[in-house]
Amino acid sequence: MQTDVVVIGAGAAGLMCAFTAAARGRKVLLIDHANKAGKKILMSGGGRCNFTNMYTEPANFLSGNPHFCKSALARYTQWDFIEMVGRHGVPYHEKKLGQLFCDNKASDILGMLLDECEQAGVDLRLDTSVQSIEKGELGYLLQSSAGELACQSLVIATGGLSIPTLGASGFGYQVARQFGHSVLPTRAGLVPFTITEPLLKSMCESLSGTSVEDCLVSCNGQSFRENILFTHRGLSGPAILQVSSYWQPGDTIEINLLPHLDLVEWLDEQRGERPNTELKTLLGELFTRKMATLLAEHWFVSKPLKQYSAAELAEIAEKLSNWRVMPAGTEGYRTAEVTIGGVDTREVSSKTMESLKAPGLYFVGEVLDVTGHLGGFNFQWAWASGYAAAQYV
Ligand code: FDA
Repeated sequence: MQTDVVVIGAGAAGLMCAFTAAARGRKVLLIDHANKAGKKILMSGGGRCNFTNMYTEPANFLSGNPHFCKSALARYTQWDFIEMVGRHGVPYHEKKLGQLFCDNKASDILGMLLDECEQAGVDLRLDTSVQSIEKGELGYLLQSSAGELACQSLVIATGGLSIPTLGASGFGYQVARQFGHSVLPTRAGLVPFTITEPLLKSMCESLSGTSVEDCLVSCNGQSFRENILFTHRGLSGPAILQVSSYWQPGDTIEINLLPHLDLVEWLDEQRGERPNTELKTLLGELFTRKMATLLAEHWFVSKPLKQYSAAELAEIAEKLSNWRVMPAGTEGYRTAEVTIGGVDTREVSSKTMESLKAPGLYFVGEVLDVTGHLGGFNFQWAWASGYAAAQYV
């Protein structure tokens, strides 16, 4: 079969690229080895798909080459995607921090993308795998489970390694290497931490399911202010997931459990105002009672506030505002939302997403070394990079 464009991977970036190119009049074949398109879209945002973020900026992305994402993000913005969502009548709302979610289900977004594919005449084939790819004089020749496929332009939109049960594979990296590209080391991002240090582990287990609103979590010069969540195996929640993308094995993370308070001053005030109140009772006003009891048992000696010296109160403030945790590791690709690293963007055109090593070969979405923060940024990268490539394939 001969076609203009073959897109491998019918996820967020592949769908966007396929219908945008088809709308330009290109004959597009979109293939996926899974039995369904856009499985991650369906799972995303707790089933409601956080499809973009109103405050998307290049600073929301990690990459070995931080300038790479700028051009594509500027040419297909969050407002362009929001316009399409509106045009399709998909109801949505801002949950917080510019994060836009469907009011109903993530399938509204997938339905919209599939609708666009159908209208533009994309030939979508599921359950289709590719055995080999060769570069020919006029383009690429693929051996696939659907037979021999020839195309002028080949787009790799196979995503990263996170959640193998949703169809993730290292295929894109393999193709990149075949055509002489470097692939930067990959690791799980936006992922919970595991804790093995016995005392801390038992605290996490006891508090499993408890979240602390508004923490400031920092690692390697990056800080995120959001909730944290204790789990049976360690720590999770938005602030932890965000910082996990900057964490390397052996690093310590710092958690300020009460960033909205100047703790030294506040504790001193409380001691003056209610000297007979026990520290445990005071902590119970800031955290859940269970957490307050645990902190009072494990971290402090609880007694009436009047019995603490200024130095002791300063020590308590320091513990609560600079809790240092060394994670044993992360939960890995099994639960990670994204893969950090990937196809080195220094060998790909930031304007067209075309390989600088193999003309006619394009990389879009998460397979590239561009990773967004939590909050709809990863989808915005998928839409923007898919759209950019679609103008040139
Ligand atoms: P994506 O992974 O979406 O698609 C790749 C496609 O390629 C898949 O359909 C796969 O089957 C196919 N494929 C892989 N190997 C293949 C092969 N060898 N042959 C053929 N096909 C192959 N982001 C966000 O912005 N907001 C959110 O709410 C969430 N929520 C979220 C929840 C969960 C649980 C996860 C795991 C991830 C998120 N994300 C997210 C991240 C987001 O889903 C992710 O960044 C994008 O889906 C990446 O889009 P891609 O199209 O690049 O890859």
